Amino acid sequence: MVFADRSMEERFLSQHRDDTAEYLRWACLVGAAIMIGFMWQDSIISASGYKASVIRLFGALPVSALAWYLSRNLRVRRFISYISAFFWLIYACFTATLLIIYEPGPYGLTSSNGVASILLLLLGVFLLSNLRFWASLLVGLLTLLIYTVSVALWTKADFGNFIGGDFLAALVIVIGLAAKTLFTDRARRWLFETSELLRQSYTMVEQQVQERTAELQVTNTHLTAEIAVRKRAEKQLENTLESLRKAFGATVQVMVSAVESRDPYTAGHQIRSANLARNIATEMGLSLEKIEGIRIAGTIHDIGKLSIPAEILSKPTKLSEIEFSLIKEHARKGFEMLKDVESPWPLAEIVHQHHERIDGSGYPRNLKGEEICMEARILAVADVVEAMASHRPYRPGLGIDAALNEIEKNRGIFYDDAVADACLRLFREKGYRFSEA
Ligand SMILES: [Fe+2]
Repeated sequence: MVFADRSMEERFLSQHRDDTAEYLRWACLVGAAIMIGFMWQDSIISASGYKASVIRLFGALPVSALAWYLSRNLRVRRFISYISAFFWLIYACFTATLLIIYEPGPYGLTSSNGVASILLLLLGVFLLSNLRFWASLLVGLLTLLIYTVSVALWTKADFGNFIGGDFLAALVIVIGLAAKTLFTDRARRWLFETSELLRQSYTMVEQQVQERTAELQVTNTHLTAEIAVRKRAEKQLENTLESLRKAFGATVQVMVSAVESRDPYTAGHQIRSANLARNIATEMGLSLEKIEGIRIAGTIHDIGKLSIPAEILSKPTKLSEIEFSLIKEHARKGFEMLKDVESPWPLAEIVHQHHERIDGSGYPRNLKGEEICMEARILAVADVVEAMASHRPYRPGLGIDAALNEIEKNRGIFYDDAVADACLRLFREKGYRFSEA
């Protein structure tokens, strides 16, 4: 049986030769051990031990040791192993014959049934068992031939008995051994094929892993680049937002200055109202977004006053009904001015509603309760408290206590309950005060 794939067959044979060389190398060591056993038998049991021991000591032991050593250290391991194993076999036959010549008696080999021939055959089994069929048969028959010739030439054993007994037994063993290599060869091939398949699968898997890794690395590089681009874009967006915020802040500041340049008595009124409104919103737990909207709307809530004659705004005496109705127009005017301004907050609507009252008594649209947005309800309270506490052209400041009393008295009537409560808490419990600016 051979592999159909020629290169596979070659790889198999090459590996098999390597294995056999390694096997024979160790067989040399086993042979040396058997020789030591013979030397022990020579010196203890046999009468002519001295001569036999010398032969073994200067023959088989050094050959075995040298073969083992060389095959371990040289690249020619395979060659050394085969050659040394073969010579070892010849030498074993030779010494076994010597034993028969020098040591006739109960412990030596007077006939072909001796201990040495059995050991010899065992060694043969050991040496040949890894060879392939024809090699194993060839070596086995060659060994048997040498042994048979030795027995015929140098011993007094009965040759007819030898051929009919030991020779036949040895021949059967040699042939059986060679036949057995057919099975071991098949098993070895199966193992080799399996390991080849495994190796191929492993190589394929490894290749796929490498490919996938390469792909992932490319994807990773792309992703990293994309992340960097996005981060840059994000940063640019942030910068743009920041500059827009600044521009918006500056615009609001211009509006504040414009209002206050025409109405110096209310200088700071808008800023202080805005601050109070922001604090009330915070006290009520509104979202940061809403709080910011309230603050900005508060800062420009009287912008509509730009359209009211300056002499009315700064008039030091009490206003006539017509004058007061003109002033009331500022809420609607403010809405008109702001309604087209793009911003994240409903600034125009808050400004429009900041004079509305919960009971519907406010202006300009007489909105009631929930119709008024929360931002405007908060700004209304802040506006009233700041206005009452501060000086006006037509009257001195009434003081913060009077302002708070007004809120308390009209809580739920003019002013939202929750807003009024938060405002009172701020001043009475948390020590809130208007700044002097
Ligand atoms: Fe106002």
